[in-house]
Amino acid sequence: MMPRIYIPGDSGAIAVGADRVAKAIAAELDARGLKAEIIRNGSRGAFFLEPMVEVLTESGRIAYGPVKPSDIKSLFDNDFLTGGQHRLWLGKPERHPFFAKQTRLTFARCGITDPLSLDDYRAHGGLAGLQRAVTMTPAEIVKEVTDSGLRGRGGAGFPTGIKWKTVMDTPSDRKYIVCNADEGDSATFADRMIMEGDPFVLIEGMAIAGVATGASKGFVYIRSEYPHAVRAMEKAVEIARRAGVLGLTVLGSPNAFDIEIRMGAGAYVCGEETSLLNSLEGKRGVVRAKPPLPAIQGLFGKPTVINNVISLASVPVIMEKGAQHYKDFGMGRSRGTIPIQIAGNAKHGGLFETAFGLTLGEIVDNIGGGTASGRPVKAVQVGGPLGAYFPRALFDTPFDYEAFAAKDGLIGHAGITVFDDTADMLKQARFAMEFCAIESCGKCTPCRIGSTRGVETIDRIAAGVEPEKNLALVTDLCNTMKFGSLCALGGFTPYPVMSAIKHFGEDFKPSAVAEAAE
Ligand SMILES: Cc1cc2nc3c(=O)[nH]c(=O)nc-3n(C[C@H](O)[C@H](O)[C@H](O)COP(=O)(O)O)c2cc1C
Ligand code: SF4
Repeated sequence: MMPRIYIPGDSGAIAVGADRVAKAIAAELDARGLKAEIIRNGSRGAFFLEPMVEVLTESGRIAYGPVKPSDIKSLFDNDFLTGGQHRLWLGKPERHPFFAKQTRLTFARCGITDPLSLDDYRAHGGLAGLQRAVTMTPAEIVKEVTDSGLRGRGGAGFPTGIKWKTVMDTPSDRKYIVCNADEGDSATFADRMIMEGDPFVLIEGMAIAGVATGASKGFVYIRSEYPHAVRAMEKAVEIARRAGVLGLTVLGSPNAFDIEIRMGAGAYVCGEETSLLNSLEGKRGVVRAKPPLPAIQGLFGKPTVINNVISLASVPVIMEKGAQHYKDFGMGRSRGTIPIQIAGNAKHGGLFETAFGLTLGEIVDNIGGGTASGRPVKAVQVGGPLGAYFPRALFDTPFDYEAFAAKDGLIGHAGITVFDDTADMLKQARFAMEFCAIESCGKCTPCRIGSTRGVETIDRIAAGVEPEKNLALVTDLCNTMKFGSLCALGGFTPYPVMSAIKHFGEDFKPSAVAEAAE
């Protein structure tokens, strides 16, 4: 058997040298007159181990990491092609604690298969969900998705089945499936990992959505900062088309469905669904007032399903294994699994797919391993730039939509940014207002003007000017933004600001402010 080497082609792995490692391995093979098949797989998501190189041995895959080009010679000297011992030896990846503790449903193949091999995809259970869907009625498919309890993973947590039902029930000559791959939240990379590491699962999920709702055309709107994902998706769509997974007769059925890949120009607000639709139509990315809902009047005025990458990529396993299998994971109204992304000042940054319900403390301390700096964790921001800052006192909060909402927080796209005790929470509150001011689409006053006034008022607190009066003013302003903004950009910016004030009030006191300024 020709040796097989897996080197992630994921852009996160490339950022820490995977391409250089691949080049060094190819050169070493040449120098030693050896031959091996090199597969550029996706990342398994343990970024603290990337570039993580694996070799296929008679007893399964053996991993090494993090590998540098300068390690290659010694790896070969230590028989790495047959899984030999080395200081970077990690053993079987599935037994490594970071992977062994996960429940991988959506990311089952990510990092394992060759992302652009449809045969490999099928060999690992791919297309079984779509195959089943084309034998069912639209109402049966929608019921299956509804029964699974799947809720939108883009941020709002809206039940996916209900959205699909609205589109299915709205008569129209044309309907669309739009995949939101704008992934603008801080600490998030799950969408990117799927598109680069298992693009066919997204294509399959979108095709199932098309069959269920009567939509024959899909668009994937990808942020411009993801060129690798754009390329992977374009190639995968072409392969799927040639294989009859997409086209006029999806898997030989009477359903037509095709996909186009579109790139955004780079605006956080273009991840907001109505703004995204405007951008897709070639207009400025400004938020539209609702109603009408996109499900009734969306892209080009037609009924449109707009779902996040992870929502759509979770549908194939639901259709393959049944609603109950998916629903059996999770807690309360948060069913199934969620790919938690740990970043910031975390020792073990990466993607961890698990059933809902782990506490925040378990995620940060046990899985994330605390801070990379080794200093105590001061705060974690959950849910991107619009998410609340949680102090250690709230680390018993279970990862669940309702439990987070009850603590004035949100799960969002499940990104967690870790901060150590050197973080200045007044600066973080200012950053939240500044971010909103920069990214505001400008349509409504509380957000457009409020965010700028928010920066100025926090600056006055930092300068020690009437701190109590200005703190009250920020609170008042946050209430106006929360209740008066048209969309969640202005409406949720108060969450990081108010949580910083509430949980880290000492950073806003004149003595702390004077100390930070020194
Ligand atoms: C300012 C703003 C930015 C957003 N960015 C994203 C994004 O990058 N990706 C995403 O899937 N949803 C984003 N959303 C949520 C979308 O508006 C929408 O709820 C989501 O695409 C629906 O898909 P889902 O039901 O599958 O989550 C954003 C919302 C707001 C208000
Ligand atoms: S809240 Fe901000 S981003 Fe949203 S519509 Fe208003 S101005 Fe635009």
